[in-house]
Amino acid sequence: MTNVEIIKKELENIKYPGFAKSIVEFGFVKEVQLDGNNCFINLDITSTAPEVEAQLRKEITALKSLSGINVTLNFNKPKEQVQQSNSVSGKNIAPQIKKVVMVSSGKGGVGKSTTTVNLAIATAMQGKRVGILDADIYGPNIPRMMGLNGKEVEIVGDKAKPLNAYGVDVMSMGILMEEGQALIWRGAMIMKAIQQLLRDILWEELDILFIDMPPGTGDAQLTLAQSVPVSAGINVTTPQHVALDDSRRSLDMFKKLHIPVAGIVENMSGFICPSCKTESDIFGMGTCEELAKQYNTQVLGNLPIEPAIREGGDSGKPIVYFNPESISAKRYMIAADKLISFLNSQDEVSNAAIQPIMPAGVSACSPEGQKIKEEHEKAQKSSGSCGTGCGCH
Ligand SMILES: Nc1ncnc2c1ncn2[C@@H]1O[C@H](COP(=O)(O)OP(=O)(O)OP(=O)(O)O)[C@@H](O)[C@H]1O
Ligand SMILES: [Mg+2]
Repeated sequence: MTNVEIIKKELENIKYPGFAKSIVEFGFVKEVQLDGNNCFINLDITSTAPEVEAQLRKEITALKSLSGINVTLNFNKPKEQVQQSNSVSGKNIAPQIKKVVMVSSGKGGVGKSTTTVNLAIATAMQGKRVGILDADIYGPNIPRMMGLNGKEVEIVGDKAKPLNAYGVDVMSMGILMEEGQALIWRGAMIMKAIQQLLRDILWEELDILFIDMPPGTGDAQLTLAQSVPVSAGINVTTPQHVALDDSRRSLDMFKKLHIPVAGIVENMSGFICPSCKTESDIFGMGTCEELAKQYNTQVLGNLPIEPAIREGGDSGKPIVYFNPESISAKRYMIAADKLISFLNSQDEVSNAAIQPIMPAGVSACSPEGQKIKEEHEKAQKSSGSCGTGCGCH
């Protein structure tokens, strides 16, 4: 074998970061030239991410056949994607994600995480590339619900790869932290943590990234809206009137942040008896219809209290995947369908129309925030709320 052939043979062992195939199998190695002690290798790669190039450089230059040789590597990459952003700071820290959907609620324990998991899987089952980011840094439940507890994360370069379950990419503080470890988060830390979950995770190109939020309307929601354009918000609530009052706060927050509302999920709406399959009214039923009208939105689905939903969550076997014939699974599928239609209808809406916001860490009420706001208003001719959810109105 000539020296060039030996080098090519060794290149066959270099996997493209994040994939099982090698750069040769992918056809990325275009040229290998050897001239005395100088080697020139030309590669076409499909990623613009600097860490992919860095990883390949490291592995190629460490090849045995290239030891003692001056290696010149040339990477041809696709043009950097134009960042779509509606944020005042001009930032969209995860531009490879087409649509970000925020799942929120006014109070805890109403079924946000359960809804996120089942809706995400239902959407993936309808052919979309889907991810879940568990932004509930206080009580990350998504790993358990997706059957991913205790799974190790793969690190590529200095980024972590999301795990995958049931066709959905998943990342959560619960995966990155040790089990049972409790952290006390303060404002700035929350921002940093959420931004890292978007920026330092190797999210693939996704059609939809669902974000499971902590309950309420706090720093996490605001940070997220400051970091990526959120295409849709989903409000999860139980049907009692006291819960609906909290829901209004969550829906008002979407309004303030200029996040279009895809709909309301009425969870624990009636009870389906596991033995006789009849549906009875426990917390009330159908109360969200009126709320949806008031906020000019729709009810995405009424999900009954069904023991199989809770069991699916606890055992990491989501009902929509493991029991697709159940009433609840069918309702999740319909809700996913409505969500997809909503997101498609939003394609007409320019990103600039969605949440005008402050750079992370800048309060809209501070002098700096005021200046940004004035400049933004001049450009956008917006009126009314500062749009940041800061509570100044
Ligand atoms: N429709 C349902 N039928 C039966 N059990 C349900 C249903 N929805 C949720 N649950 C159960 O209720 C509990 C709370 O749900 P979940 O963790 O999804 O709520 P959450 O709003 O995400 O809570 P938190 O605010 O703490 O994050 C879980 O044990 C879940 O399995
Ligand atoms: Mg939750």
